Formats: sequence, C-alpha cells, structure tokens
Amino acid sequence: MSASVLISAAQGILNPLIPLATEQIKLAWGFKDDLQRLEDRLKLTQALLCDAENHRGRVNLKTMQVWLKKLNSVVCSADDVLDELAFEVLRRKLEVQNRFMRNNKVCKFFFFCLSNPLPFRFKMANKVKNINLLLDNLKKDAEGIGLRPADQILNASTSVEPREVNFRLTIPFVDDKQVVGRDGDVSTVIDMMLGSDNTVDDLPVIAIVGMGGAGKTTLAQLVYKHDEVVKTFGEQRMWICVSDDFKVEGLLNEMVECLTGNKCETQNVQGIVKKLGEKLNGKKYLLVLDDVWNENQDKWVRMRDSLLGIGGSKGSKIMATTRSMDVVSTMRTSPSLTHHLNQLSENDSWTMFRKRAFANGGPTETQKLVDIGGKMVKKCKGVPLAIKTLGGLM
Ligand SMILES: Nc1ncnc2c1ncn2[C@@H]1O[C@H](COP(=O)(O)OP(=O)(O)OP(=O)(O)O)[C@@H](O)[C@H]1O
Ligand SMILES: [Mg+2]
Repeated sequence: MSASVLISAAQGILNPLIPLATEQIKLAWGFKDDLQRLEDRLKLTQALLCDAENHRGRVNLKTMQVWLKKLNSVVCSADDVLDELAFEVLRRKLEVQNRFMRNNKVCKFFFFCLSNPLPFRFKMANKVKNINLLLDNLKKDAEGIGLRPADQILNASTSVEPREVNFRLTIPFVDDKQVVGRDGDVSTVIDMMLGSDNTVDDLPVIAIVGMGGAGKTTLAQLVYKHDEVVKTFGEQRMWICVSDDFKVEGLLNEMVECLTGNKCETQNVQGIVKKLGEKLNGKKYLLVLDDVWNENQDKWVRMRDSLLGIGGSKGSKIMATTRSMDVVSTMRTSPSLTHHLNQLSENDSWTMFRKRAFANGGPTETQKLVDIGGKMVKKCKGVPLAIKTLGGLM
C-alpha cells in the first residue's frame, strides 16, 4: 500500500475521532484527564500525519510506510474505544426503553456487564491509557524517522477558534465495503438532489435527519462520492463539518479552503463571497454541512443570503445532516427534500454485526455465538453505531 493511501486511510479514521474525544471529555466518566490526554495525543498525531503528507523526500519512504501501518492500527483501536464510550451513552438511553428485555438471560448478563459503572469505567480508563501509551510510542518513532508535528495543525488545535479544528476533521471519506443496507437511501437522496430542477427554490437544502449514530454522516458520504453526484458537481463539491456554534465567515472561508486549498486572508463576508464567486465561476456546486446543530434562524438567513450572493448557476444544492427537526425547519427544508433515516432492517443489522463480530482475528462463528449475537443485535434496534460497537465487543 502506498504512503499516500496509508495517510488517507489514517486521516479518514483519525480526523473524526478528535470531536468524539472532545465530546467524551465533557461527560462524567471519571477519567477526564486520560481522555484529555487522548485528545491532545490525537491532535499531535494528526499534526505528524500532516508532516508525513508534506515530507517531500525528507523522510525515508519505506520507514515511513512501516510507521504509517502502525499508526493505522493504533487509530483503529482508538476508534474502537471511543465508539465503545459513545455506544455506552446511547445504550443508557436505550436501556430505559428496553426494560422488558431484561428477562432474557443473555441480555441480562450482557447488561449487567455494561451497566455496572465501576468495572466499566475501570476497563475503559485502562483502554484509554493503553491507547495513550501507544500514541506516545508512535510519537517517539516519528521523531526517530524525522517527522515533526506540522505547526499549523497544532496551532489550530490549541487555538480558541474551534472552527479551525473542526474543519480538519471533516472529510468525505467512507469505505463503502463496510456499509450495509443503504442503497435505497442513497437513491432517495440522490433523487431529491438531482431529480428536480430548482425552479421554486434557488438553493434547496436536502436534509438527512435521524437519531445519533443512525448513519447520517455515512449516508451523506455515500451520496457525496456517488458517480452521478461527482458527474454533476465535479470539483465543486464541498464538505464541511459544522457541529458547533458556527460563524458565517468561518463556514464561507472553509468553502474557499475546500475549493482552493487555502483560506481567504480576509475575514470580511463580502470579500469571501467575492472569492467564492470567482472560484465557482458560475458552475453549480454542492455544499455538504455535516452535523448541524445550530437553530439560530438569523445566522442561517445570513449564511443563505451570503451563499445566494455568490451567484452561480441554478442547480446548486446544500445537503445537511442533523439530529434535529428544529434545525430542518430553521434551514427551511421542504418535507419533500427531508430524508428521515430509518434504522437498518433486521437482516442488514445482522449482516453488519456479523462483519464486525466475526471478522479476521475475532471469535469463530459457532452456533452458540450466533444465538447470543442474534439477541444482541435485536437490542440495537437497527442503530448502526450500536451494532458496530456490540459487534466489536463480541
Ligand atoms: N449502513 C451502515 N453500515 C455499516 N456501518 C455503518 C452504517 N451506518 C453507519 N455505520 C457506522 O456507524 C457509526 C455511526 O455512523 P454515523 O457517524 O454515520 O452516524 P450519524 O447518524 O452521523 O451520528 P451522529 O448523529 O452522531 O453524527 C460509524 O462508525 C459508521 O461507520
Ligand atoms: Mg454524523
């Protein structure tokens, strides 16, 4: 595997991990310091990866490939640990709804293991500590082969301007071989996006709505890289992770960076809009706003007006993912452009669970484990994040 593929793969897993770590720090797990250290180390690793990307012959390629393979394995483990924590949060919510299942012996045992806060915390704190150690070793190895954390990322990571950090974390990368059961959803969203011409609305917003972990981002990623979408929007596709309380200038500037690789010097909306207009040059574009939380109508109106100020051909679209119907109405999405993402079917849930639970290096697929797995999958109610996490635990 080439170094650039290894770097993209690592970035694909690592970049979304930092906001996940940040989210977990805010929760009362009882090992905040370890999580904080994890977040710091992930940012440092990100900066090292950036240097690996730009090393321009400074570093021996073969040695760097070995380091990158190791790094990929460590970030996968970090991904698993943070998924496990995210799942625990989700599980606690679902538990309330699923009390009736507690008569089932297997589930009772399973839930005891996870509901018992002390062993769980202890186990997770150890896992986080181990990942931190592995990341420390990676850093030492990186120094040994001549990699240095790229300043720009470290500065952005410690800056008080959260948008800088988030932008780094948003990449439209998905390994579609791992995704199950979303062909119908992809077609529906693509029909919404490309099916109608926008005579009514200048800049329609297609919204993907669903609960946390339902697979909204994954679906948006599948749509973003779909051949028809690539054919329609080409290089004028922009992916931005919004998450926090965004600034209009910041988002517009991130669009510039998506298109040109560099941000605008100016923070002036008019200047940024002008730059976007020059760059897009009348071509239609697709702007993905992943994970929108902000329900501030005024802000959204400012953003929309600025986007309309770019001009450009009709047919430009926005695709947003969100957990909240309030956000959908704030963004003035019409019901016909709103896709409610349902849970996976039982079959697809099982396929996904099986892939994860009985993957290479996992347990052998015996009848007993299949029976237990089947019951675990039922508990997940078709939520991919839950299935992924339980499959991994098995
Ligand atoms: N159809 C699927 N098949 C396999 N894995 C999936 C599928 N959908 C989602 N996943 C996996 O489940 C996890 C959660 O998915 P994703 O991040 O897309 O959820 P989300 O709805 O965007 O969550 P959030 O509201 O927190 O942003 C990810 O690790 C993703 O890879
Ligand atoms: Mg998401």
